[in-house]
Amino acid sequence: MTKVIAINGSARKDGNTAFLIRRMLEELENEGIETELIQLAGRTVRGCAACGQCFENRDGRCAYDDDIVNGCIAKMTEADGIILGSPVYFFDVTAEMKALIDRAGYVSLANDGLFTRKVGSAVVVQRRAGAIHALDTLLHFLLIGGMIVPGLPPIGVGRDFGDIKKDEEGIARATNVSVTMAWLLKARTTR
Ligand SMILES: Cc1cc2nc3c(=O)[nH]c(=O)nc-3n(C[C@H](O)[C@H](O)[C@H](O)COP(=O)(O)O)c2cc1C
Repeated sequence: MTKVIAINGSARKDGNTAFLIRRMLEELENEGIETELIQLAGRTVRGCAACGQCFENRDGRCAYDDDIVNGCIAKMTEADGIILGSPVYFFDVTAEMKALIDRAGYVSLANDGLFTRKVGSAVVVQRRAGAIHALDTLLHFLLIGGMIVPGLPPIGVGRDFGDIKKDEEGIARATNVSVTMAWLLKARTTR
């Protein structure tokens, strides 16, 4: 069955970013696609140590095996589609999301591209500014990995828990992107 894995880099579990991601996943499920959401909130995610072990071992894993990253890499490798979500922190993604990107990205490069031709989208939520920069960070990961991106990812607006529910445009954008994502996923599996 076609599957999409979503990873929420927010430090707040079930916050605004999670809400928009879930909106996207609901839409994908309506199209018969299996989904799973992993939230990094409350977890310590190490940054890349630049040890190069992934290029020596070439086993699809990071040498650090004491946090959630190898589990995420395995699920991302297995999935047909990947959604990375992050709130904007100081005009960029959260530290946990950046750590995941660096390590999963390097492991992917070391293994001839674990995510090539998967359908990849992003989603960011800002209070006021910085969404484009954060989005660029996520898009660079998707594009460097050779993934197919279904148009401009959704940008949500909100600060406190639940604010996002008032952002009708952000929610509509999340719905539209996931409809295109489902279309691409179906096209991908029929080839
Ligand atoms: C450390 C930190 C830095 C932030 N930096 C920004 C920022 O640069 N620009 C912005 O618009 N919002 C910023 N915010 C606000 C969050 O992006 C906003 O509250 C968002 O809705 C949080 O999403 P979440 O509920 O998924 O965690 C920051 C929040 C925190 C905790």
